[in-house]
Amino acid sequence: MDQVKFSGEVMHIKDRGSRHLSQETVKKLIHRSQEAKKQAYSPYSKFRVGAALLTTDNCVFTGCNVENACYNLGVCAERNAISKAVSEGYRNFTAIAIASDLDEQFISPCGGCRQFMREFGPNWDVYLSKPDGSYLKMTVDELLPTSFGPEDLSMKKVFNIPNEY
Ligand code: THU
Repeated sequence: MDQVKFSGEVMHIKDRGSRHLSQETVKKLIHRSQEAKKQAYSPYSKFRVGAALLTTDNCVFTGCNVENACYNLGVCAERNAISKAVSEGYRNFTAIAIASDLDEQFISPCGGCRQFMREFGPNWDVYLSKPDGSYLKMTVDELLPTSFGPEDLSMKKVFNIPNEY
């Protein structure tokens, strides 16, 4: 890792452009999510989460959860990482790794984050990890089947709502 592109660090991986990631790449991505977890601002829940998002051109954007005294304004780690990437011009993703402190369970992304991921396509991978580095790999589509996405907005409707509505 020796090149920095905006806030997304370029990850030098052999399996460039492919959806299949080597064990080494998965390990690195999970490690990055564990490092991001250390930045979690979670004084209310005391539940730290980190995420590392890999773009199709091999940039990594990380995120942590950021809570707020006005509880409902808290942001999840995954959404943070995705927003960072999108705001830097990246919209195509290969995978996201998620880390928490849960000892015996793979961290499962919340419903809102699943929908947020799905905005950028159903066919990419989510690595739900445990602190020991073990993981469960699922696609966005598996996490959110029969989803609603951007394409649905332009599907045929029974009638068109007039402009002045
Ligand atoms: N949280 C995440 O950041 N990602 C998840 O996938 C699950 C939950 C955060 C939100 C909140 O700050 C804390 O974990 C407890 O729900």
